[in-house]
Amino acid sequence: MDKKFIQFPKDFLWGASISAWQAEGDNYNSDFEKYFKAGKAANHYEMYEQDFDILQKLNLNTFRTSIEWSRIESEEGKFNEKEIEHYRKYFSSLKKRGIKIFATLWHFSNPLWIEKIGGWENPKTIFYFKRFAEKMCFEFSDLVDFWITLNEPVVYASQGYVLGEWPPFKKNFLLGIIVVSRMLYSHKLIYNHLKKCNYKVPIGISKNLAYVRPKNKYNILDWLAFYFADYFYNRYFFSRIGGRMDFLGVNYYFSADIGFPNKYEQIGEKESDLSWKIHPKGLYYVLKYTKKFNLPVYITENGVADKEDKIREWYIKEHLFWAHRAIQEGVNLKGYIHWALIDNIEFKEGSDARFGLVEVDYENNFIRKIRNSAYFYSKIVKEGGFYYP
Ligand code: BGC
Repeated sequence: MDKKFIQFPKDFLWGASISAWQAEGDNYNSDFEKYFKAGKAANHYEMYEQDFDILQKLNLNTFRTSIEWSRIESEEGKFNEKEIEHYRKYFSSLKKRGIKIFATLWHFSNPLWIEKIGGWENPKTIFYFKRFAEKMCFEFSDLVDFWITLNEPVVYASQGYVLGEWPPFKKNFLLGIIVVSRMLYSHKLIYNHLKKCNYKVPIGISKNLAYVRPKNKYNILDWLAFYFADYFYNRYFFSRIGGRMDFLGVNYYFSADIGFPNKYEQIGEKESDLSWKIHPKGLYYVLKYTKKFNLPVYITENGVADKEDKIREWYIKEHLFWAHRAIQEGVNLKGYIHWALIDNIEFKEGSDARFGLVEVDYENNFIRKIRNSAYFYSKIVKEGGFYYP
């Protein structure tokens, strides 16, 4: 097969991401810290300048991170000016380097005082989060290029309210739905407010999209299970957003066969260190699915736990190949933000799951070491594409 150059659009955004609780360290006022103990995490709070130097060295023009709510508002209604100043310096440092910023306002962790009042089960949280979001937009809209209100509400609800593996460790499907609907209501209020204030920053949301299909396409019960999963995972979500987004952030990790009554089998060609199966073509299917929203789309996460860096190059190349195919077929895909820039804390898996383009030596002063796959990605970015296969 002849090699072909897979050329991305000139204005395509190329980036890497992290989230605050997973990378910063010392987020002691968060509910996730109470249970999962990131401790110093990757010490990104203190080492961000070094991390941004690496971003630059890798030619990346985009960075996604989150602002830690529990850091800024560790007590109800009291916004910590010192921490606001920290994020101002932090974002300014990216701006100075000409790097576009996607800032997420909520990436799973809640302040302890929010946990105390019942988290997102309590309708008051809708308004508390809106107040926090409005404050952040007021403070940082001159620096941030894209706002993401929420990261993966459905993943949060399934982990925290269906599987019971994340705070608040419940197994109550109905409560999970209520929580998602509260979060999305909050998103809508924030969206409306920001539009009224006439900030120019586009506002979106990051949604984990999985490519799913019925396990046996000749079995009507598998179709039923598939429709049920698709409804609660995707269609319910988008119906609640009601068009209030300027762009859609897609996080893609999985593809799966769905069987009756609730079988879920991942499909894929290779496996990550976490035994997640990897199916790059699934990215193409989920991107095609987004076409109906008629919005700019950014891949806000896509990455692999691969400590030894054995498959990350393959992972990046294959996913980008299918992303490119989607662009050719009319998907308005405007950027790719790899998860993650640096190794960070993966909830219950802790520091064992190594998603970073850059290795972090947790035992030795958090020394950063750029993995080979990062240079591979960087070359693609520099050349605007790559030869395939
Ligand atoms: C989350 C990240 C997480 C990644 C890998 C995504 O669903 O947004 O926080 O680290 O998956 O598990």
